[in-house]
Amino acid sequence: MTTSTTTIEAQPLEQESTTVSGTWEADSGKKGRTQKFTDRTTAMNSLASLAYWHLAENPSDRVAIIIDGERIPLSVPGAPALNGHVQAAPTGDGQPTIQVLEGGHTHSLYVPNGEVPTYIPQKDELDILRAVIAGGLNGLLTGPTGCGKTHAVTEVCRVLGKPLVTIQGNDGAAYEHLVGYRTIEDGKVSWVDGLIPQAMRAGAILYVDEPNALPDGIRFTLFSAMDHRRAITLPENAGEVVIAAEGFTVLASMNEGTGYTGTSLLSHAFRDRFDVVVDFDYLDQRHEAQLLAARTGIEASHAKRMVAVAGGLRTALKDKEVRTPVSTRTLLAWANLMQRGFDGQKAGTLTLVAMVPGSLADERRIFADLVEAHFAGAAKVGSQDA
Ligand SMILES: Nc1ncnc2c1ncn2[C@@H]1O[C@H](COP(=O)(O)OP(=O)(O)OP(=O)(O)O)[C@@H](O)[C@H]1O
Ligand SMILES: [Mg+2]
Repeated sequence: MTTSTTTIEAQPLEQESTTVSGTWEADSGKKGRTQKFTDRTTAMNSLASLAYWHLAENPSDRVAIIIDGERIPLSVPGAPALNGHVQAAPTGDGQPTIQVLEGGHTHSLYVPNGEVPTYIPQKDELDILRAVIAGGLNGLLTGPTGCGKTHAVTEVCRVLGKPLVTIQGNDGAAYEHLVGYRTIEDGKVSWVDGLIPQAMRAGAILYVDEPNALPDGIRFTLFSAMDHRRAITLPENAGEVVIAAEGFTVLASMNEGTGYTGTSLLSHAFRDRFDVVVDFDYLDQRHEAQLLAARTGIEASHAKRMVAVAGGLRTALKDKEVRTPVSTRTLLAWANLMQRGFDGQKAGTLTLVAMVPGSLADERRIFADLVEAHFAGAAKVGSQDA
């Protein structure tokens, strides 16, 4: 058996000539934006798809699509279901019918709920993120590792009840997983949305962790979702144009910004698509200590010592005396082990000191000395031999 490799290239929409313009409108008065399309069929399919998402939420409404000024009422057989893919199939009398294509795949999206641990705001970052989402903007969250960027996004989605779709930028990120793929089931070919079109159709928050590490093909697909077009083409799905439903927002996070030694790895074109940059840093010592005590149950006095150690090491990082950042994540692990019976110094050695690469022996000593200075002889918490 031979295998063949197919190279898939995303087709940026702006390189295509746009010849027709269209929008959709419901009887209730709700309207779509006017968009440009390459041809009438693409316009019809895409506008029907958009109208369909409106109908899924407002099943009793009636919709029409308007292409180059011509008003075409859509007939919708049965109640629309929120799965599968739609197209407007022209019937004999020229009136398109919204169809759910064969082999529709249901995707259930994650909406953060009460499981999210309490978030302690640093400044006004949650308000900014809410404004970014309300304004249909793209937001870039910058800041050092483990300072609460992902938690802040989750918290905002929880508060707003928004679905959250996360994609992890790394070189192995598969096009099929993020954009989609064709599949054959029972002899029928169907298309399965990847995470990006899923998020766009649902008007979800698309959270891209480390976008600089995404493979080029996926980055280019994101480009058109992030500018005025708010759309992507799916070349492998007969060129379907997926236009983002209202509320779709791209948020991304990167380890750069205040106090972080890294430099931007984003291309100018990508960076330029982020309208708002929200800069994060670690919580101040008082709040970080509160967080450690509240999340793990360690004594407040121990939490204070931990954040004092972290404070010293973060200053050393800013002064370029050490290279290893100390994250809130690491402090939580340290507190967790302490709460499970390890004394503070041992728990700190296993977590905080162990974060320093073995090759940096001098730096390990600096970390270990500081832990020792604050915790040598500290009482064990919860251990049997305390
Ligand atoms: N302000 C905060 N309130 C509550 N918890 C926080 C806060 N900041 C950080 N944390 C906790 O610290 C840990 C790390 O946070 P998170 O994963 O959000 O960091 P991040 O900035 O996304 O890191 P990375 O850049 O490595 O992805 C999580 O357990 C998170 O709950
Ligand atoms: Mg994160």
